[in-house]
Amino acid sequence: MTDLFTDPHAFGDLDRWRRRALELHAKGPIHRVEAEGFHPFWAITDLSTLREVEGQPALFTNRPEPVLARIADREAQMAQGGNVKALIHMDDPEHRKYRSLTSDWFKPASIRRMAADLDALSVEAIATLEGLGGSCDFASEVALPFPLRVILRLLGLPEEDFPRMLMLTQQLFGADDPDLQREPLGPEKLAAVLADFYSYFTELTKSRRAHPTDDLATLIANGEIDDAPMPELEQMGYYLIVATAGHDTTSSAMAGGVQAFAEHPEQLAALQERPELLDNAVEEILRWTSPVRHFMRTATADTEIAGQPIREGDWIYLSYLAANHDPDVFDDPLRFDIARPNADQHIAFGYGVHFCLGSHLARMELRSLFRHLVPRLASLELAGPAPAAKTLFVGGPKRVPIRYALRPH
Ligand code: HEM
Repeated sequence: MTDLFTDPHAFGDLDRWRRRALELHAKGPIHRVEAEGFHPFWAITDLSTLREVEGQPALFTNRPEPVLARIADREAQMAQGGNVKALIHMDDPEHRKYRSLTSDWFKPASIRRMAADLDALSVEAIATLEGLGGSCDFASEVALPFPLRVILRLLGLPEEDFPRMLMLTQQLFGADDPDLQREPLGPEKLAAVLADFYSYFTELTKSRRAHPTDDLATLIANGEIDDAPMPELEQMGYYLIVATAGHDTTSSAMAGGVQAFAEHPEQLAALQERPELLDNAVEEILRWTSPVRHFMRTATADTEIAGQPIREGDWIYLSYLAANHDPDVFDDPLRFDIARPNADQHIAFGYGVHFCLGSHLARMELRSLFRHLVPRLASLELAGPAPAAKTLFVGGPKRVPIRYALRPH
């Protein structure tokens, strides 16, 4: 059962994953996982226990390793120069200092400035669907480019940098599913790609220091920590986390949402009939798709979680996907239901001090896309299988082949 968390193939069939997670819930909120090739850990699958752990960031830290990886892969990564250091690798007080540099920029009042851009991208997405004439792979044609173009805009980068940023988010930090990696990178190519990004972001920093604008890159380039310019490694980490955290996550929710509507036509019809349910539908899509499958924490002292003794140094797996199907919180959790009264209690954006910095932006993107798309759909159905990415960290459907008809505007 615990291969649910360590076997990428288990994530390839999400319906089965959800069913098995429900069986695991029946056994309790916390589970010991000892899998070959991995350091042992405790997996948390229920929502209130997960909040309890994330609510104590001094006792359960993000350092030293906030993401699950095979021991061998982690060692190879370290040999190639290790991790960049980004928000997810930090604890307080450092984390608070870095996060506060950009947190105002991501607040609703400020992020609203992106609304017109997002609506323009949604209009273009519908035009793309019109142009494709009734059938396409929604994942690659719409869901993949949309959030990446948003990231270009928020960093203030030109459209022609799209391929380079795609390389960054997909090749370097994207899903580890072999089908999704255009071309596996050997160590030399990887070093070259990293060097390219290093010089790209170094140039960006120089340019934003010389000519500050109101974009996010300007904040990162000129950000000071303890009255001194941000160290280079941390600055690279900042650019990278903003670029990567906002891409695969949001595109997975978009693609997974369209897949859910294609598989549950009565839900699409309900939203067409009651457009005021849009915001709730987006929350249900986030619960249902949970694109970030997990994060890890490490205990800094002997303690207990839900009655289970935990030792200092123990590694804890926070299963957002399982917690979002917690039957004690969500009635009939295996049902996709856009009118679910408590859909917004999901934990797809995490909880506590590391709560997703881009949550307002992600919600705005999803609301904009579905607000434009849903009323136009005269019909929607899957035209083939929509397999999920076999990835342990962030993922959604690899392909969403659809057949559709659009109503005239
Ligand atoms: C549907 C889309 C998204 C989902 C499901 C998602 C989910 C998450 C989750 C689960 C975390 C960790 C929270 C925790 O540890 O408690 C996180 C952190 C983060 N997210 Fe998102 N995210 C999404 C979109 C975005 C976007 C659009 C951006 C920005 C452009 C973004 C930027 C970040 C950053 C910077 C962090 C690190 C925050 C920290 O460690 O303090 N995310 N996200």
